[in-house]
Amino acid sequence: MTGARFHGVRLLLGVCGSIAAYKSVYLVRRLTEQGATVHVAMTGAATRFVTPLTFETVSGNPVMTDLFSGPPNRHIELAEAVDAALVAPATANTLARHAAGIADDALGTLLLALRGPLLVAPAMDGGMWDHPATRANVDTLQARGVAFVGPASGPLASGLEGVGRVAEVPEILDALEAMLADVRVAASMAGEHVLVTAGATREHLDPVRFLSNPSTGRMGFAVAAEAARRGARVTLVAGPSELPTPPGCTRLDVTSAADMADAVRAHVGGASMLVMCAAVSDFRPAVRHPHKVKKDAGEGHVALERTEDILKSLAGRTPEGLVKVGFAAETEDLLAHARRKLVEKDLDLIVANDVTQPGAGFRVATNRATLIGRDGSEQALDILPKARLAALILDRAVALRQSVRPAR
Ligand code: CTP
Repeated sequence: MTGARFHGVRLLLGVCGSIAAYKSVYLVRRLTEQGATVHVAMTGAATRFVTPLTFETVSGNPVMTDLFSGPPNRHIELAEAVDAALVAPATANTLARHAAGIADDALGTLLLALRGPLLVAPAMDGGMWDHPATRANVDTLQARGVAFVGPASGPLASGLEGVGRVAEVPEILDALEAMLADVRVAASMAGEHVLVTAGATREHLDPVRFLSNPSTGRMGFAVAAEAARRGARVTLVAGPSELPTPPGCTRLDVTSAADMADAVRAHVGGASMLVMCAAVSDFRPAVRHPHKVKKDAGEGHVALERTEDILKSLAGRTPEGLVKVGFAAETEDLLAHARRKLVEKDLDLIVANDVTQPGAGFRVATNRATLIGRDGSEQALDILPKARLAALILDRAVALRQSVRPAR
């Protein structure tokens, strides 16, 4: 059974009182054939349509129909032991009860005690599905992260046509597989703390004038968003940017290279990955005037001084196990410059991009990059949306965390 679609997956299947309950017998068959272990819980109404014995026979496990038969606490143990739950068919009544958190039968209690994700396949009359009460319950459940499959449109038990038919078994299986895949992604960077820098810095000459560059922060925000989606704790140190904070990220807004250096140093101690996407200014005006410089008083030139190189300042001084990723924005000799920066800045990975290429660099939604590893490996990528490039960078960073340095 290894290699089967649901190999090793422990599932709770809730069955509610609908004529569509008989389809769930086939559903259990397909699930067990494909490697899942299925525990069925039925509402009282469901037992009027299909007997518990039928589900017991196809699943090979006892069926829960009430709270008071079987060992005490079985519902809690089962709810905590399963990887996911599926309710098919899910009636308007069960959706309403779960939206309200009612737990006065076996299925209601199991759903409330569930730790894993939940997929529901509604089945009801079209008018019931359209009713504002059901609509509100569906909204509540979706906002809580419950996934839905169907209902489909077609002939209903009432003899009418409409939306309310339970989704077909293959569709339910696809939705379940997609939900389980999402859960795996969401857990794939759990325990990591990713410190990401993004955007340009501004080096002020006076309160209204500054030295900067056209970076919008898109690449860094994409890395932060993807790391958070994968379950990492994310601290995003952002230069001035109009972009919204990606869900689940803690954002620290900074202005100058010096501010960014302070923020990075304050947080790098607790991080397991540092991804320096920011286009940090290398120079700042040597003097910052407290008031607007008047043109009559202007000297005609601005003296500049170097800002601190944040990555270089961390070389050899970062916590053991920290994976460091830098970027190289180049306009010539891309790979040679990037390789030099990888060594000088003590990086595990550098993302080299020629910012003069169409579809790469500042202010565009795509990027074209070559990933160069500490081991000298080179991975030349096509033009990709920044979100996709962010995912590939994190794949490499995760692999590096697991192999190159000891786990923290
Ligand atoms: N970087 C940094 N501190 C700086 C400048 C850059 O930490 N003061 C980081 C960037 O975030 C990036 C990497 O170093 O991850 C390379 O930045 P880049 O601008 O390509 O190179 P520079 O080091 O500034 O070198 P040069 O200007 O000579 O290309």
